[in-house]
Amino acid sequence: MNEKIWDALTVGELNVDLLLNEIDSFPEMGKEKLADKMDLTLGSSSAIFASNLSSLGAKVAFCGKIGKDGFGDLVVESLNNKGVETDTIIRDENLNTGITVILNYDEDRAMVTHPGAMNYLTLSDVTEEMMNKAKHLHFSSFFLQPGMKDGVAEMFEKAKRLGLSTSLDPQWDPAEEWDFDFKNILPNVDVFLPNEVELLSLTKAQSIKEGIEKLKPFVNLLVVKRGNKGSLLYSNGELNEAPPFLNTNVVDAIGAGDSFDAGFILKFIQGAAAVECQKFGNLTGAVNTTAAGGTGAFDDFKTVMQIAKEKFSYGE
Ligand SMILES: Nc1ncnc2c1ncn2[C@@H]1O[C@H](COP(=O)(O)OP(=O)(O)OP(=O)(O)O)[C@@H](O)[C@H]1O
Ligand SMILES: [Mg+2]
Repeated sequence: MNEKIWDALTVGELNVDLLLNEIDSFPEMGKEKLADKMDLTLGSSSAIFASNLSSLGAKVAFCGKIGKDGFGDLVVESLNNKGVETDTIIRDENLNTGITVILNYDEDRAMVTHPGAMNYLTLSDVTEEMMNKAKHLHFSSFFLQPGMKDGVAEMFEKAKRLGLSTSLDPQWDPAEEWDFDFKNILPNVDVFLPNEVELLSLTKAQSIKEGIEKLKPFVNLLVVKRGNKGSLLYSNGELNEAPPFLNTNVVDAIGAGDSFDAGFILKFIQGAAAVECQKFGNLTGAVNTTAAGGTGAFDDFKTVMQIAKEKFSYGE
């Protein structure tokens, strides 16, 4: 029997974000504009999930693909700083690390992404040796990783066979085609974590109720994230609606969904009941919105619980 040294192995996309702020006007062909502020940070929703789950106290390893370049170094360094195991990240010298360039204009933003290495992660990169060291497998951003598409059902099947618990956050499909074989994938996914629009798009349903009906035969725990409306849990034929820890003073909602996932999965791997996991997910999603970016509010478990107490009267 292999020793389980990680609470969770996260498989997902990795990239850096180049944020340009205070830009004098919108881009125009053939002209140069100035941005007074810039920031280069770790991007990707899988990385936010892994970082925050690690900050909450779990031992987390990451399996993803990046280049052997400076942006790749930044990705590894940032995850290491959060305590995430990065030896499981594959660095390919023939590929570029992915980047998203974000032009920020007040509430609006324009983004261009070069996926780079994240396009090339495949099932064979997620080895049994890695899986055997983990208690739980989380996969995120299905549609951003075309190399994984045909292997995802098999990856989850293998994880279950090896005795891991599993979760999946599909995230948005930029192509809006929603080609996702849920009948074959979901039976081996213990926790499925789409947001409301993703659920409707994946199931081609008009309402959440109809979407849940379509997934019922295949899904185990289903959690539907609903922004400032909280979340819905479908479990064992029952629906549980959990109100949000409402934040009326949102700094930004970048990564709120990933932070919800981190809180839910933390409780899940600790063996908590599904409704407890849901409540804690709502809490960590709300905490996320109290600071800038996806990881700003997640220094460590104690700080998160302090924010929870001060801003949302949690635990009082
Ligand atoms: N204003 C808010 N106040 C309190 N909680 C919030 C707020 N916004 C989001 N949340 C919490 O965060 C969770 C996840 O947010 P959301 O539904 O936006 O996920 P998402 O669309 O997957 O996000 P992401 O863009 O990070 O992928 C919600 O279910 C809710 O619990
Ligand atoms: Mg999301």
